Amino acid sequence: AIARITGREIVDSRGNPTVEVDVELTDGSLGRAAVPSGASTGAREAVELRDEDPGRFHGKGVQGAVGFVNGEIADAVLGLEAEEQAVLDGVLIELDGTANKARLGANAILGVSLAVAKAAAAAHRLPLYRYVGGVDARLLPVPMMNIVNGGAHADNPLDFQEFMIAPIGAATFAEAVRMGSEVFHTLRRDLLAAGHSTAVGDEGGFAPNLRTADEALEFVLGAIERTGYKPGQDITLVMDPATSEFFRDGVYDYTGEGLRRTVQEQVDYLADLVARYPVASIEDPMAEDDLDGWRLLMTRLGDHCQLTGDDVFCTNEALLREGIRTGVANSVLVKVNQIGTLTETLATVGAAHRAGYTVVMSHRSGETEDTTIADLAVATGCGQIKTGSLSRSDRTAKYNQLIRIEEELGAQARYAGREALGLRR
Ligand code: PGA
Ligand code: ZN
Repeated sequence: AIARITGREIVDSRGNPTVEVDVELTDGSLGRAAVPSGASTGAREAVELRDEDPGRFHGKGVQGAVGFVNGEIADAVLGLEAEEQAVLDGVLIELDGTANKARLGANAILGVSLAVAKAAAAAHRLPLYRYVGGVDARLLPVPMMNIVNGGAHADNPLDFQEFMIAPIGAATFAEAVRMGSEVFHTLRRDLLAAGHSTAVGDEGGFAPNLRTADEALEFVLGAIERTGYKPGQDITLVMDPATSEFFRDGVYDYTGEGLRRTVQEQVDYLADLVARYPVASIEDPMAEDDLDGWRLLMTRLGDHCQLTGDDVFCTNEALLREGIRTGVANSVLVKVNQIGTLTETLATVGAAHRAGYTVVMSHRSGETEDTTIADLAVATGCGQIKTGSLSRSDRTAKYNQLIRIEEELGAQARYAGREALGLRR
């Protein structure tokens, strides 16, 4: 049973405060979880509670959320069985009492939910991926590595937020990391040679002074080729334009490029990029408020491109179900802090799988050394993880954890490869 809960305020990869929770069970087992934080958040995400006290951390303090962990939440969950995750999460949701965890904060609730799961895994002497996923949890995800950063994650004029490489042709996860690292370093050299900055953005990808997706894709494609890999075969391209950030008054407002695209023009533009570059997956190609645009794009590209909903679903099972019913996206991004409990996260993954949607486990742009999502990617067998570039320990920590999991699984481990994205060949 849960014997002790300790919340504290720590700092994340952007130097902003976030919640960390330690849980101790009566048998002495320990679990610790730290909560991530987004910059380009969906409007319907669970609420991240901040103190709004300008005298501390520019208003971003989380002493209030930590206070709830150590007070109300601890009072409600001490004595509960750690293995009864659904019961625990139900208690947390009911104690909060709002539809979006606005009272106690999804940051307070998620910290407790994940720390309890990790303590329970420790009590069973199981790694988290096996505790959550069972003996069948042995599929290592394809990493989507974000090597060029723009949008809300960098100060450059790039309108699109993320340009990623996915080593679908690797034989193992460790090999995928090697391939990604090699391309990352080739790209660094190429950018330097072209007179660009090689400073990195929030997710560890380069943030060169580029304006258009074409320019970024050319650099990434060139780096793949110059490293000796076949684009589309060994390594495919993935983008997250994060369009909710620049959809205004019914049009897509490309401030970096200095032009606007109507919904139809946005669809045509993306279809053109997919025709000219080996892009296998696009996340938030259309904005969270542009469901008609989403359906238009699905008709146009849905059969041969993974179209992943992030802001439009917010890891929320109800929003996902509505999207499944109405033909929005064919894939869902899963971010634990968008919904706030492990149980709800797993429910969303289950709903996606039953509808034939693919699932991408994901970090946030604000991260910590916590590697829970690496285990959850294997636990759910989702086959894909998005967790940043091949630099910055907050990003590489997840890749390193997956390397360890692959080693531990030994001959049982299977790398998801190209089928994970719904690609047939
Ligand atoms: P965020 O961005 O963590 O800043 O919200 C990540 C994403 O849009 O996928
Ligand atoms: Zn996104």
